[in-house]
Amino acid sequence: NARKRRIHNLMAQRLDDRTMDLLKSIGAAGDELGLNLYVVGGFVRDLLLQRTVDDIDIVVEGDGIAFARYVAEKLNCRVNTHKKFGTAVVIVSEQIKVDVASARLEYYDFPAALPIVEKSSIKRDLARRDFTINTLALSLNADTFGTLIDYFGATRDLKDKTIRTIHNLSFVEDPTRIFRAIKFANRFGFDIGKVTANLIRNAIKVDCFKNLSGLRVLSELKQIFSEEDPIPAIRSMTDYGLEKVIHPRLEITPATYQILESANKTLTWHDLLYVQETYPRWAVYFMVLLHRCTFKVSEQICDRLMIPVGERQLLLETRYKAENRLGFIESNHPVSRQKLYWALINFNTVFVLYMMALTKNEAVRRDISNFYTQFRHVTPKIRGKDLIRIGVTPGPAFTKILNEVRNAKLDGHLDTREKEMDFAIKYARENNMI
Ligand code: CTP
Repeated sequence: NARKRRIHNLMAQRLDDRTMDLLKSIGAAGDELGLNLYVVGGFVRDLLLQRTVDDIDIVVEGDGIAFARYVAEKLNCRVNTHKKFGTAVVIVSEQIKVDVASARLEYYDFPAALPIVEKSSIKRDLARRDFTINTLALSLNADTFGTLIDYFGATRDLKDKTIRTIHNLSFVEDPTRIFRAIKFANRFGFDIGKVTANLIRNAIKVDCFKNLSGLRVLSELKQIFSEEDPIPAIRSMTDYGLEKVIHPRLEITPATYQILESANKTLTWHDLLYVQETYPRWAVYFMVLLHRCTFKVSEQICDRLMIPVGERQLLLETRYKAENRLGFIESNHPVSRQKLYWALINFNTVFVLYMMALTKNEAVRRDISNFYTQFRHVTPKIRGKDLIRIGVTPGPAFTKILNEVRNAKLDGHLDTREKEMDFAIKYARENNMI
């Protein structure tokens, strides 16, 4: 009842040598222990979609923990085990981690003289998953290496570009899957199947989120907001009325979408320039959604989603500070580089990007972007020890002088160390600091 076909050519084409070798040695370890094993889920899905693959998830028909220990010893690397769940993580390197899960063997007693047989349990493992497209398994044992096993019509749905659940209770069992359906549909440009969309509507109607922990909703939202372009997913969420699940008074209006689009542009601009820098992208979108809420509603949303204290402070207090600061810049525009510098320097990337997304004034946006790319880096070359040398007593005078040096540099003066030194001496004398 499973469709099988070999896709080792596709694997050879799409996977780098290291990944191929790793999969082969994992398969060989299975053979050595007499276990069937498969790489499953997102890895196989992304391979067939010709997308970049990441996490390797292995399901072993048997004791996954013992298997993971064996592999770790063979590859001479670390392993973390979770006895309670029968799972383990083999840490191949900083970048490559292999998750291992156990699909328990089921024994069927046959009557009379027939022996006890083991039923393939991979199917049962896959049947517990959310959507058909996540139910593919790829065999790694040597004699079947690269055989794709499809029990639930996953290949068909990948071709049809459709998100479908495997069974009708999927969302009732786990309502976070509603967000996942939207996330995958958005990421791959798929549609949510008709029946599946109805199941979503029904699950929302019967208030399936009532008992769902806020932490799990938050985790799903963060994932959606971390996608390259989360806006279609946010539209889809509002089509289902999911924003009301977050808070009955959360409104996502055409004005919100305008700011979201602007956030998109800003983040794309930033990420192209600063490929290496990581920051919580999700927070920018989240703040845009909170922007029009009252402080009380914002607080209640943070409560509902069980947002931890540190993040809560950022989403509430610091966000308000950023909004006020932007208001100040807008109403005093044009402002000098000095003013802009001191207005913005204490906000980190997320808030600077948030302000750029929020402003409707192009000139202000350009100024903030110049601050970010250029003059936030302006720093005096001279240090405290240089001031000691000219006889300044360490203390508040230090900060005062160095800030004045910085201001002069922001105005485009003092391009050398010597000029900075001369400036510092002159300033210290005039202010009776030496
Ligand atoms: N899963 C599920 N229900 C959930 C979460 C996960 O059935 N609420 C299943 C999915 O079938 C998935 C597997 O658990 O294949 C692993 O989950 P995850 O790592 O989140 O899935 P990926 O498909 O790897 O997601 P991503 O590409 O976003 O990492």
